[in-house]
Amino acid sequence: MKVFDFEEDREKDTYIEIMPLFFRLQHLILMITVIVLALSGFTILFHRTGASEILVAMEGGFEMRGLLHRSSAIVLVALIFYHLFYVLFTREGREEFEKLKLKKKDFTDFYDVIRFALRLGDDYPDLDRYSYKEKFQYWGVNAGLMVMVLSGLILWFESVSMQVFPKWFLDIILIIHGYEGMIVFIILLLWHLYNVHFSPGNFPMNRVWITGKIDREILLKDRPGFADKK
Ligand code: HEM
Repeated sequence: MKVFDFEEDREKDTYIEIMPLFFRLQHLILMITVIVLALSGFTILFHRTGASEILVAMEGGFEMRGLLHRSSAIVLVALIFYHLFYVLFTREGREEFEKLKLKKKDFTDFYDVIRFALRLGDDYPDLDRYSYKEKFQYWGVNAGLMVMVLSGLILWFESVSMQVFPKWFLDIILIIHGYEGMIVFIILLLWHLYNVHFSPGNFPMNRVWITGKIDREILLKDRPGFADKK
C-alpha cells in the first residue's frame, strides 16, 4: 500500500497550493525550535525523574542543555521578527495575514459546528481557507509565544531582573514559563497533531505542511466556498 506519493502530487494538476513556501519554512523552523525548547526545558522541570536523566544524556550534559535552550530561544526570537517582517512587508505575507484575521463568520462557524455536532443543525458551515480552529491556533501561538519569550528573557537576564523585580515575582515567572511550556507541548501533541494529521480524512499525515498543496477534490468537499475562488 502506498501511503505517501509525493511524485503523484507533483504530477496531478488538480493539486493547488494553499500554503506558500515561506509560510511552510516558518512553520518548519517553529516546529523544530519548539520541540528543542520543550525537551531542553523539561529536563529541568522534571529534574527529579529518570526521564530527565535520559534527556540530559541526549542533550549532551547539563551545560549543553542550557546552551541548547538558549540558542533555540535566539532562533525562535529571530523567527518572530522575521514573521513580523513577512506579514508587514511582503505581498505573500500580507495576503496570508489577511486570511488569518478574525471575522464575525469565525464565531458563527464555531456556533454552527457545535450545533451540527449536537444534531441541532443540519448544515456544517462552509469554512474559509483558515477555519475558526486554525485561526485560534495561529493567534493562540502568537499570544503564547509572547509570554514564553518575555518570561524567558526575565529568567535569562536574572541579575538585571533581580534589580527590578522582587524574588517572589521571579519565582512566579519561572512557574508560568515552565508550566506554560508544558501546556503548549500537550496542546501541540494532542490537539494540533490530531486535528491536522490523525483525524479521519488526514491520517496518517496531511502533506500540506511539506508540499503546500492540497487536492482540489478534498478542498471542494471541506471548503467549497474557498475552493471555488481558487
Ligand atoms: C515554546 C518555547 C519554550 C518552552 C516550551 C520552554 C520551556 C521551558 C521549561 C519547561 C523550563 C524549565 C522551567 C522550570 O525550571 O520550572 C524553561 C526554563 C528556561 N527557559 Fe524556556 N521555554 C521556551 C522558550 C524560551 C525562550 C524563548 C527563552 C528566552 C528568551 C527561554 C529561556 C529560559 C530560561 C533562561 C530558563 C531557565 C532555566 C535554563 O537555564 O534553561 N525559554 N523553559
